[in-house]
Amino acid sequence: MAEKYTIAVDGPVGAGKSTLARLVAKKLNIIYVDTGAMYRAVGLYAIRNGVELTDRTGIVALLPQIELDVKIVNNEQQVFLNGEDVTGLIRTPEISMAASVVSKIAEVRTKLVELQRKLADRVSVIMDGRDIGTVVLPNASTKIYLTASLDVRAKRRYNELITKGQDVTFEDVKADIMKRDDNDMNRDVSPLRPAEDSVNLDTSDMTLDEAVDAIIRIASEKA
Ligand code: DC
Repeated sequence: MAEKYTIAVDGPVGAGKSTLARLVAKKLNIIYVDTGAMYRAVGLYAIRNGVELTDRTGIVALLPQIELDVKIVNNEQQVFLNGEDVTGLIRTPEISMAASVVSKIAEVRTKLVELQRKLADRVSVIMDGRDIGTVVLPNASTKIYLTASLDVRAKRRYNELITKGQDVTFEDVKADIMKRDDNDMNRDVSPLRPAEDSVNLDTSDMTLDEAVDAIIRIASEKA
């Protein structure tokens, strides 16, 4: 592969984007950038400040107060919100939904896309999100659109939350996924959709190892 390359991974909730991107980054020894974490940090900030998530003007007014920073420690991304490491606080169902709601706002996206492009500027990265191949890195060396059936995605997300000790039901997790996908696919600004030049990868019947190998194979053919 080229000396510097970028792999863009987009897809719906629970398709396995972050798990796979993290593993691929380790194997290829490149940086994994989790863009969802940035939208989650903005959602957390809005909740902490008591601003209604649907209050567009209120959220936009908060933006100048938000300083986001990401650091890579042991190949893992940590997100800092005004200097505080919030990495461990943003993986709850409440923050997932908050991120999906605030990510509809154009001003929020502009701020975060700028940071995301900077991160991919100098080094090889695999970056996951909803608009990476379409908006953030339109010239990415490889674009992958990752999917899996709704039931498989709900099962994966449910197991992940239960393992973390969160008190959720399968039905609630599935309903949340459908709601978030609907938000993410039908918003006006940068909706989730496959880039024209992306490769579709359905991981419903794949093991993690098979999916990792598939991504690396696609990337080595493209880059
Ligand atoms: O990937 P994730 O589940 O952590 O993302 C949380 C939410 O953030 C997701 O529902 C939509 C939004 N998001 C986005 O709009 N664009 C991205 N590049 C990444 C996430």
